[in-house]
Amino acid sequence: MKPRILITAGPTREFFDPVRYISNRSSGKMGYALARAARRYGRVTLISGPVALKPPSGVAFVRVVTAAEMAQEVFRRYREADVVIMAAAVCDYRPATTARHKIKKKQRPAGLRLELVPTVDILSELGRRKRPHQILVGFAAETDRLVANAQEKLRRKNLDLIVANDACAMEADTNRVALLYCDGRVERLPEMSKARVAGEILKRIQRLLTGNHQRAH
Ligand code: CTP
Repeated sequence: MKPRILITAGPTREFFDPVRYISNRSSGKMGYALARAARRYGRVTLISGPVALKPPSGVAFVRVVTAAEMAQEVFRRYREADVVIMAAAVCDYRPATTARHKIKKKQRPAGLRLELVPTVDILSELGRRKRPHQILVGFAAETDRLVANAQEKLRRKNLDLIVANDACAMEADTNRVALLYCDGRVERLPEMSKARVAGEILKRIQRLLTGNHQRAH
């Protein structure tokens, strides 16, 4: 049986009125490249936030907008997945309230204060619910202390692998990543196109899957 691979990509949008939202710079390029590369290894589902990219052919495609929608779609599907790759830049915070009507400047002449509350951390939740056969892969976009921060996330979220990259890779076509494994190994890859980085990541996930399979038999 071909493994089932669940991948998330892109940013989320968190609205504070019907036309305004907070989000981040994620372009979705890394997640989409992973979905394309994953097709030769298994059956792929891509859950994507709003991006300007065409859905890859040959993958089941699910469109979402908010972190809450992304959480719902992931939690609905993760049980059947052998591999989950959380490449999405899920917003960590959302506005505490969403106005039903567009907020008018007249109503807030002195300025507007936004109160933000945390969204559900999907990956941490997956880490808590992880099944023995599952491979859980996270991303860490950092502006400083790249490896140390990623290492801490790998442990805290109970991951098998974390892909650490500089936050400035968010809109770029290339990426330079470090791969951190739960046994403490750190592997640094040179700067490459996101398509090639995706290929290298999938090769390593395939090895982790084979390892799991051998341990189970
Ligand atoms: N992630 C998630 N749900 C969220 C936020 C993030 O599943 N609400 C996932 C991302 O898809 C990514 C990983 O968690 O794979 C890293 O997210 P990040 O925001 O960098 O980690 P945090 O634990 O929120 O740490 P911090 O923001 O403090 O760096």
